[in-house]
Amino acid sequence: MTARELKEKFIQFFVSRQHVEIPSSRLVPENDPTTLFISAGMQQLIPYFSGTPHPVGKRITDIQKCVRTGDIDDVGDSFHHTFFEMLGNWSLGDYFKKEMISWSYEFLTKVLDINPANLFVTCFAGNKDVSKDDISASIWESLGISSDHIIFLEDNWWGPAGTTGPCGPDSEMFIDTHPELPEVDFKTGDKQGRYLEVWNDVFLNYNKTNNGIFEKLIQDNVDTGMGVERTTAILNGFDDNYLTSIWQPIIKKIEQISGENYIDKKYTKPIRIIADHIRSAVFIIADGVEPSNKEAGYVLRRLIRRAIRQGKIIGIDTNFISQIANTVLDNQDNYAGVYPELNQNRDKIISILNAEENKFRKTLDNGLREINKLIEKNNSVSGKEAFTLYESFGFPVEMIEEEMKKNNLVLNREEFDNAKNMHIKQSQTSSAGKFKSGLADNSEIITKYHTATHLLHQSLRKILGEHVRQSGSNITIDRLRFDFSHDEKLTEDQLKQLSDLINQKIKASLVVTKETMPFIQAQKEGAIAFFGNKYPEIVSVYTVGPKDSFFSKEVCTGPHVSNTNELGFFEITKEESAGAGKRRIYAILK
Ligand code: ALA
Repeated sequence: MTARELKEKFIQFFVSRQHVEIPSSRLVPENDPTTLFISAGMQQLIPYFSGTPHPVGKRITDIQKCVRTGDIDDVGDSFHHTFFEMLGNWSLGDYFKKEMISWSYEFLTKVLDINPANLFVTCFAGNKDVSKDDISASIWESLGISSDHIIFLEDNWWGPAGTTGPCGPDSEMFIDTHPELPEVDFKTGDKQGRYLEVWNDVFLNYNKTNNGIFEKLIQDNVDTGMGVERTTAILNGFDDNYLTSIWQPIIKKIEQISGENYIDKKYTKPIRIIADHIRSAVFIIADGVEPSNKEAGYVLRRLIRRAIRQGKIIGIDTNFISQIANTVLDNQDNYAGVYPELNQNRDKIISILNAEENKFRKTLDNGLREINKLIEKNNSVSGKEAFTLYESFGFPVEMIEEEMKKNNLVLNREEFDNAKNMHIKQSQTSSAGKFKSGLADNSEIITKYHTATHLLHQSLRKILGEHVRQSGSNITIDRLRFDFSHDEKLTEDQLKQLSDLINQKIKASLVVTKETMPFIQAQKEGAIAFFGNKYPEIVSVYTVGPKDSFFSKEVCTGPHVSNTNELGFFEITKEESAGAGKRRIYAILK
């Protein structure tokens, strides 16, 4: 079964059980300061687990693009990836454990044809806050899973995705990938080797608050996640995800460029890292991120640089990243036909990758020269000097070591690590403020900034013209940041007109209303929609001002204040370029 078939079967299974398919959200969360990337399908649904009705109903399914940066150092083994696709289905206060576990069993054993004898499950063992999940276990047993295939674990708890929010006990499903081998106790067996997790049913009925308290949500929700890459590998009997048709075209291309073979043990790991990192970079750029030294842009830069470095290990010394990226983009079956943002941004993706590769290769050349200068002068490179090279040139420490080795020198790794740790400590102290703000994602002030962002967007269009479109937005408890399309720096006068108009609308005490309607009607009514690749058929629309003479109308998931007079005073603190043809405004509410 190909990945494409698995995805179709999953969606079809849930659509035929009254679920509505919604599009994947972008990889970079809008207005959520707690995470850099979307790492689970449930993230775009967070507001709806607490009772807010979702425009399409209570049963939802989708394929979500995810990035898990925490796994970056594990990439290179047979199953960790930085980017992956997650299949999911949700009950928003509708069905619960009985239906979900029965459907999971049915999908795995009937649709995917997995032998029930090879199925193992884990359930929540309970802790001081929440009791043991005997209900899920007895449902599994009633379906025919024998009790020695069910174990209770304390860490069967999922979420929240960020620091606060919906979470709950979960039940994970594992497949015995080698039933022909002598039995190994599932309780003690290596989960990552013999028993592989294919699906996770989360019973989201708790909310973790800012104070670290778990409170019951007002409704019982279901949130599930199935990784496409791993499940495809298992269904095809592979112990290695990279052997599936998801990865093979990419691997073949790397083999062709390098002249080395994936099956040659020396090269397996670097080839996996290159394939993984470039696929992630393609998807991240398609969603509007560019390489930089901060946040998501920094992760992207790291992925590209690590791929280039692994390229060197397998003997690639000229630009190759964009060739690999093209293989990802050309994969019509898995990606190009499914995610329109890939084709729409194809030229941009390729040119950003080329520019970044050129830049890094120059960095490497400069760094090498610097290292050789130090060696000539002092016949050594100290740990501290190595850290400076690493920090200011972005020069990988392994390459410093290799260069030194050529001269029979050894790097003092301890000194290097000390310098690095000192630097990390310093930057952690300075980013503690950001972390604090991350804890307050659901607070009142964030809601106020959401509404202020709508006022700003509309005011920009009134003052600068209708060409203005939001190209990015980011909110913390301290400020809003808004990127938009516009060619020129704003004049003092324009900035004053903007804040005057916004403050006038705040003082006018305009009512903010939310309606649910088909996307086509929202557009007809003049609602602004952006990041417009795909929208669900039914959307939420927020209107500021009276219905027949509104000031602003936008398609948005919210939340928003109910009256603009709650916003206080709006002040622009900075206006700057945000790249070619784009400007950025920072503003605060006082
Ligand atoms: N949100 C759950 C997960 O990511 C389904 O595993």
